[in-house]
Amino acid sequence: MQQFSAATTLNKKPLFNFNIGSGTGVKLDDKTFEEWRKYIYELCGIYFQDNKKYLLESRLQKRITYLKLDSFEKYLQYVKFNPRRNEELKYLYEVITINETFFFRNQPQLDALVSSVIPDIMSSPYKVNKNKIRIWSAASSSGEEAYSIAMTLKEMVKPKYPHLSFEIVGTDISRAVIGTAQNGVYREYSIRNCPAFYLKKYFKKEGSNFHLSPEIKNMVNFKFLNLYDQPGMRAMAGFDVIYCANVLIYFDMKSKIQVISNLYNSLNRSGYLFIGYSETLHGISKAFKLVSFPKTIGYKKE
Ligand SMILES: C[S@@+](CC[C@H](N)C(=O)[O-])C[C@H]1O[C@@H](n2cnc3c(N)ncnc32)[C@H](O)[C@@H]1O
Repeated sequence: MQQFSAATTLNKKPLFNFNIGSGTGVKLDDKTFEEWRKYIYELCGIYFQDNKKYLLESRLQKRITYLKLDSFEKYLQYVKFNPRRNEELKYLYEVITINETFFFRNQPQLDALVSSVIPDIMSSPYKVNKNKIRIWSAASSSGEEAYSIAMTLKEMVKPKYPHLSFEIVGTDISRAVIGTAQNGVYREYSIRNCPAFYLKKYFKKEGSNFHLSPEIKNMVNFKFLNLYDQPGMRAMAGFDVIYCANVLIYFDMKSKIQVISNLYNSLNRSGYLFIGYSETLHGISKAFKLVSFPKTIGYKKE
């Protein structure tokens, strides 16, 4: 028997926490898998490949058991037609997303931000408001990426540009991870890559938890946003830098094209987009200029 819990990050309240063994629980047949896959895809762009059927099965199974339903078909009807559909969608997003993240996950991107991106933006003739830099961590999970940006700006950029203010926004489809981000309390797993300087200066250890300091927490606002939601995405405008890392991998080509095109529109002219190590815009967008930095690349809106 394997112990599953949906709470992968601290303060992500367990929605279900029980045993599901290989021989127990209902099975997801191919036809119902197809229906579920289409439904989830239309909802948020996440596409479960054939080889991820077992993953979807085990994740939905938790919710099915919790709701005391007896089939995947019934759960699909429940999600589609339940009058409290929006409530249930919160749980569904919980079980279908993967929220893996940690502080300073991509140091070369942060170095590029400090040494090249901000100076380039500040010297651009297209930068209208030279007193403020707006940064968006799209698919921010439990906040580690956005807070790593905040600490870096405070330590490495602010001294060079004392007049500059920073607005950092973190968004995600999972409300549980947004809650964790807002709490700013982390386990050792999250801080494993955090440089000692930042750890010492901006975290307080209490028991086995690491509490982020209020001055960094106050630099970031977190909110719900489905990257696949067109009106919601249109409302996100005027950013200088967008980080959208390690989420495109869950989308199919059509969703990637839609999301990247929306992110392009959300950027100011001469703004930059960063994506994950293993992700590329090849075949997705030709609108950006590829820019090389030491050990990383970025995409510039010219
Ligand atoms: C693997 S985490 C990446 C976190 C962070 N960007 C990083 O690189 O460390 C992916 C996040 O994308 C979020 N996500 C997945 N689909 C999404 C969608 N359609 N809209 C917004 N967020 C989504 C998940 O909830 C999850 O927190």
